[in-house]
Amino acid sequence: MQRRDILKLVGGGAVISAASLAGFASTRNPKKALSPWAQAGQYEEVRRFALSYAILAPNPHNRQPWMADLVGEHEIHIYRDLDKNLPETDPFDRQLTIGMGCFLEALTVAAAQKNYRAETQLFPNQNEDYVARIILKAEARLAGTDGDLFSVFQDRRSCKEPFADIELEPRHAKALSAFGDVYTRARAVDRLKTISWDAFLVEYETERTLKESVDLMRIGKSEINATPDGIDLGGPLLEMLSFIGNLTPETLMDPKSAAYQQGRDIYEKMLKSTPAYILLKTQGNTRANQIAAGRQWLRLNLMATYLGVSLHPVSQALQEYSEMKPLNQAIQTSFARKGETIQMFGRLGYGPKTPPAPRWGVEAKLI
Ligand SMILES: Cc1cc2nc3c(=O)[nH]c(=O)nc-3n(C[C@H](O)[C@H](O)[C@H](O)COP(=O)(O)O)c2cc1C
Repeated sequence: MQRRDILKLVGGGAVISAASLAGFASTRNPKKALSPWAQAGQYEEVRRFALSYAILAPNPHNRQPWMADLVGEHEIHIYRDLDKNLPETDPFDRQLTIGMGCFLEALTVAAAQKNYRAETQLFPNQNEDYVARIILKAEARLAGTDGDLFSVFQDRRSCKEPFADIELEPRHAKALSAFGDVYTRARAVDRLKTISWDAFLVEYETERTLKESVDLMRIGKSEINATPDGIDLGGPLLEMLSFIGNLTPETLMDPKSAAYQQGRDIYEKMLKSTPAYILLKTQGNTRANQIAAGRQWLRLNLMATYLGVSLHPVSQALQEYSEMKPLNQAIQTSFARKGETIQMFGRLGYGPKTPPAPRWGVEAKLI
């Protein structure tokens, strides 16, 4: 959020000196919630080593629905915690399953750095919650596979910011088109931009879908440290707004409040500052397709990071609830062929460096 926007939000009432803001700011970093980023790789035992990277995977609403059971000496059984479902915006758990795919790919890439191949059987007993049985098999000379991607693992972000007003470099578009269909021409870019903005408005203006997000918002350092999942609204300015009562779950739900209107303005500016898009599509839409899309998204996100390109998923138009149906149909019929499903819709461009998102650590996720 731009400082100017925040000051507007505070309104005429508050006068804040830059010095007091800087002093306050230095105390507001939710260090505990961010510590899993520094702990990645700090484990000797290979399963915990691989899991310490897997828990940093991107996932919808940062729900982190994964759980891991360490069985015997070489197995990891991966579960999805169904209590973390998103029934309003993800009624068929498609996006949550994609997030599990991101997790499995992160685990696979990390295990390879220790010379272990992650042999993975998906949905071993056909139950929704038992996502994968993984056996780690020692194999010579795997280390170094995906070394470039692994080298930027802790720098990967979903960049939720406006992108610079410059075109995506053709060499970047070409490299990233190995992962999905990249759109850089004005006509397609304008159409996708309009769809992403219209779809955002549907989610924002539908009370139950907005509420699903608002209920998952963690406002300020202590809430973020206490529950390092969901949507984190941190930083000194947002904490101050929360303190004076301008930023609360109630104001975020109230269309007449400054917080609600400002939230909309911030999203509009962000979504419209986008020079290019990428769509990941699968032939069919099975759970295996969704896991594969997640694996691909993680690799795309790492490659973009390696190239210095920012990536941000904008999933609203792909969501499967009744109010979204016309926009979902519009994007699927305009940009996918018969039989294909668009699984991920991403903004591409050059954004600012952003801080990592909170995470639960490995120990909290072991069964
Ligand atoms: C399937 C999927 C859908 C997502 N959809 C959105 C989205 O619509 N808007 C958004 O801002 N982020 C979206 N994200 C990104 C998550 O919010 C993000 O991964 C999470 O907050 C953790 O942040 P990080 O990726 O920077 O570590 C999505 C991620 C996944 C895997």
